[in-house]
Amino acid sequence: MEQTLILIKPDAVQRSLTGKIIARFENRGLQMVAAKQLLVDQKLAEEHYAEHVGKPFFAGLVEYITSSPIIAMVLAGNNAVKVARQTIGATDPKEASPGTIRGDYGIDLGRNLVHGSDSTESSQREINIFFSSEQINEWTMANEKWIVE
Ligand code: RTP
Ligand code: MG
Repeated sequence: MEQTLILIKPDAVQRSLTGKIIARFENRGLQMVAAKQLLVDQKLAEEHYAEHVGKPFFAGLVEYITSSPIIAMVLAGNNAVKVARQTIGATDPKEASPGTIRGDYGIDLGRNLVHGSDSTESSQREINIFFSSEQINEWTMANEKWIVE
C-alpha cells in the first residue's frame, strides 16, 4: 500500500475548494491516512521545496505557500503517488486536462491549488516533514483490515 503527501495550497483553501478537492481523491479510491490545517513557515517551506532552491520561481513559491493556511494530508492506495498526480493534473493549470483538479479549477502556474509527491522517495521524505511516524502507523494498523485490494 503506497502513501503520498498532498497539500491543498492557500489559493484552494481561500476559495473554499477543500471539500471538492478531497472528494476528487476519495472518489478516485484513495484513503485519507492523516490530515491537518496549518500555516507553513519559511523554514518548513524551504524544507518541503528543497529541490527548487535557487530556481527563479523559488522566492515566489515560498511566499505563496506561506501566505495563508494549507491542508496537509497523507493519502493511501495502490500506486497512490501516480494516481494522485494524475488526479491533480499538469503543473501549469492552463496545460492541465479537463477532469483534473488543476484543469478544472485553475488557470495560473503560480496558483495551482494542490501539491502531490512526485515519487515514492519524495513521498516518504515529505510525509516525514509534515506528520509523525506515530500518526501514520496508528492509521495503518487500525485500517489495514478493511482496505480492499
Ligand atoms: P508541486 O510540487 O507543487 O506538486 O507541483 P509540481 O510537482 O507539479 O511542480 P514542481 O516542478 O515541483 O514545482 C513546484 C511548484 O512551483 C511552482 N512553479 N512555478 N514559475 C515557474 O516556472 C514555476 N514552476 C513551478 C508551481 O506552483 C509548482 O506547483
Ligand atoms: Mg513537485
